[in-house]
Amino acid sequence: MTDILNYINNDVLAAAPVTEPERQHYFIAQLKEIGESYASGDECVSGSNKKLSAAVVTFGCQMNARDSEKLCGILREAGYEITEAEEDADFVIFNTCTVRENANEHLYGRLGRLKNMKKAHPERIIAVCGCMMQETDEVEKLRKKYAYIDLIFGTHNLYKFPELLFMLHRKRAGLVDSLEAAHAGNAVLIDSSSDYERYEKLLRYGLNAGNRKDLEKLYRKPVVSVWRDSSDIIEELPQQRKFPFKQGINIMFGCNNFCSYCIVPYVRGREKSRTPEEILAEIRRAAEDGVKEIMLLGQNVNSYKGVSVSDDQGPAADDGKAASFVSFPELLKRVDLLAGETGIERIRFMTSHPKDLSDELIEVMAASKHVCHQFHLPLQSGSSRILKRMNRHYDKERFLDRAARLREAMPDIVITTDIIVGFPGETEEDFQETLDVVRKVRFDQAFTFIYSKREGTPAAAYEDQIDEATVKDRFDRLLDLQNRLAAQSLERFRGETLPVLFEDISEYDPMMITGKLENGTTVHVPADPEEQKKLIGTVQKVRLEESHGFYYTGSLA
Ligand code: 5AD
Ligand code: SF4
Repeated sequence: MTDILNYINNDVLAAAPVTEPERQHYFIAQLKEIGESYASGDECVSGSNKKLSAAVVTFGCQMNARDSEKLCGILREAGYEITEAEEDADFVIFNTCTVRENANEHLYGRLGRLKNMKKAHPERIIAVCGCMMQETDEVEKLRKKYAYIDLIFGTHNLYKFPELLFMLHRKRAGLVDSLEAAHAGNAVLIDSSSDYERYEKLLRYGLNAGNRKDLEKLYRKPVVSVWRDSSDIIEELPQQRKFPFKQGINIMFGCNNFCSYCIVPYVRGREKSRTPEEILAEIRRAAEDGVKEIMLLGQNVNSYKGVSVSDDQGPAADDGKAASFVSFPELLKRVDLLAGETGIERIRFMTSHPKDLSDELIEVMAASKHVCHQFHLPLQSGSSRILKRMNRHYDKERFLDRAARLREAMPDIVITTDIIVGFPGETEEDFQETLDVVRKVRFDQAFTFIYSKREGTPAAAYEDQIDEATVKDRFDRLLDLQNRLAAQSLERFRGETLPVLFEDISEYDPMMITGKLENGTTVHVPADPEEQKKLIGTVQKVRLEESHGFYYTGSLA
């Protein structure tokens, strides 16, 4: 076995490039060496093939799913085999969500289940990252009650993951005293050769009764690195797509809206947009890899404002090179053109804020060739009074007008939404307004949420919180209405023959495959294992035969 210290000593750290993402690529290469050296040890590896394994557990939205693809890509390039079995993995990372209280509880449940695993195998690594780690109280709670966690980082420094993992190895070897609140890379260095030797021995001979105490001592105390904010956008890192044929593309990060119930602006920071050139280059690379569908991602894509430096597109600049701003409709136009050139068949985006859904965007969508006729337009409440208290900057009429405008421009459009029930001060009359909008717009799908009080948001301090029984009753009534209307609305596609992009084997029946219509509706079609292999990842015409409330079954045309 090679000496692991060859890869983590002070000289190795000092030789790291200072620019990003080169710096992280350097650490990935070091991690690979560490992993190989580690995997050749005796007892420290769970996998029988002497390759380290890693599980990435994702909670929350599409942005988190995309972040997890980056975590998986980094781990794979660092030599790990990606597994679903978190209880047997050498490395487990939880990418957390904190938008509602139950997301937090979910994490604690999963962590609790790993306690015994960690006791038996203290050398294994447990990491937690994502939105919840941007909350100081939650980090404190993890450190006190889940002291077996090794690594904690937040949303702003996700790209530093390789460096932080490298630092964890240094800390375990006694090379760094504490990285708490440290910017990775600026940590105090302590050159303690006795720890060096102990760590090396442990890795060489593995865990045994004699050295267990030593090991536990070295492994104690997590590496914690959470940044309050950052203006960096570092994207050129490895990735591993969950599906080879579709990919999320981040176009912007953060949110400036401060809806009064929402914690997102506090944990994801202020809005920052990527440049159109970077976005288009990423889409081009995805297309070269065979991606057929892309989803442009942002908390509020309508306020995308990219600085363009190209000279042949966008508003003219005097010297032909000066920066100009590109809006979301303009970006969408360019993405649509690029899709035509590169073979991308479907473009989706989310999420849009009704307050700045412009006529221009609707026109661009309707005139485009590849932008799917699907729109996620979060309503939150149908009561203008509540919308005001939510700080949403639109009223019931404006929302109805936007939905009508979308249907007018694209009669086959599918509109989906998010609705919160039981916002502080919501009366039965307010709730009736919500039901009224649901009846008028006829959403094809609604994600309905019970209001969850998030500490630090303005609404958490409102005194007129609604009692649980009332909220539950309203929630059930809303769900009942919505399910009935969605089922009726779905009927409009019955008998049609439409293209479906097949994504996977059905979760419910191994002899069926499941895919999506252009408008986002799920379709299941019978297929034997041979056919499945051929069809998944391709677009095929399907006759829609039977609607089942929120999905169709059909057969290949
Ligand atoms: N309580 C309930 N639902 C919330 N959402 C955001 N914050 C809260 C909260 N505090 C919902 C909104 C948003 C979706 C992503 O989550 O409907 O659109
Ligand atoms: Fe939250 Fe409102 Fe921003 Fe959406 S727009 S992330 S609901 S603050």
